[in-house]
Amino acid sequence: VKVADRLPIIWLHMAECTGCTESLLRSAEPTIDSLIFDYISLEYQETLMSAAGWQAEQNLERAMEKYDGRYILMVEGGIPTGNEGSFLTIGGHGKKGKDIAIEASEKAAAIFAIGTCSAFGGVQAAVPNPTGSVALSEVTHKTVINVPGCPPSEKNIVGTLLHYLLYGTLPALDVYNRPKWAYRLRIHDLCERRGHFDAGEFVEQFGDEGAKDGYCLYKVGCKGPYTFNNCSKNKFNQGTSWPVQVGFGCMGCSEPDFWDTMGTVNEP
Ligand code: SF4
Ligand code: SF4
Ligand code: F3S
Repeated sequence: VKVADRLPIIWLHMAECTGCTESLLRSAEPTIDSLIFDYISLEYQETLMSAAGWQAEQNLERAMEKYDGRYILMVEGGIPTGNEGSFLTIGGHGKKGKDIAIEASEKAAAIFAIGTCSAFGGVQAAVPNPTGSVALSEVTHKTVINVPGCPPSEKNIVGTLLHYLLYGTLPALDVYNRPKWAYRLRIHDLCERRGHFDAGEFVEQFGDEGAKDGYCLYKVGCKGPYTFNNCSKNKFNQGTSWPVQVGFGCMGCSEPDFWDTMGTVNEP
């Protein structure tokens, strides 16, 4: 595939931990190298690109100019607005992170917020939110497709991208602008421990006999009944595992404000 035929992508890192990029790297179908060499043209991605310093900044400027109105913007991380938005002042050109995100959004054909930080503010926006981090959708007037999760699975990231690549349209969305193909059902709907929930067989505390038998994790805090995502079906790391499978339960990481609202015990 010629470079000209590949979909140009600009991926920005804002206030984040790079876990979403780590998830992306574990893509299996297609593999990350096939994705980059056959389907997309990754114009700017601070973790993966070989350019550094002023050349990296030049890449970003040139990509926004050359592919104006044609590139996909993927943003990982919340947008810090505190301290007059001075956080993430990078690249020696005096632009702040928030300004870079807004400028890149203006010229994008479509915008994907990758991860809960970018989609909803995430850990950065947890109380007391010292950096004033907000969701990407709060700083741009354009439509933002949210692909939340901390991190989202590689399938949800790449699947959303390939949907656009294949159809040239945005996917159907739920009330939080999440693609329905990935976030339509609750974790609880497809969980392998659901039979134990229905039978009233629960882990009462971590390490007990029920835990060893793979019982339902609701009583030790699983938020699967309140969380919309497809982890129980698609899993992570190329289908290796997911939180409930390893016996921890779901923390609701693809829901808004999960850091502040999902740390509670469940009602009996
Ligand atoms: Fe890291 Fe989670 Fe934020 Fe992704 S959503 S950047 S994994 S903290
Ligand atoms: Fe539902 Fe969680 Fe129990 Fe699975 S482990 S059945 S998601 S409450
Ligand atoms: Fe997150 Fe729950 Fe899936 S914590 S990774 S939405 S199982």
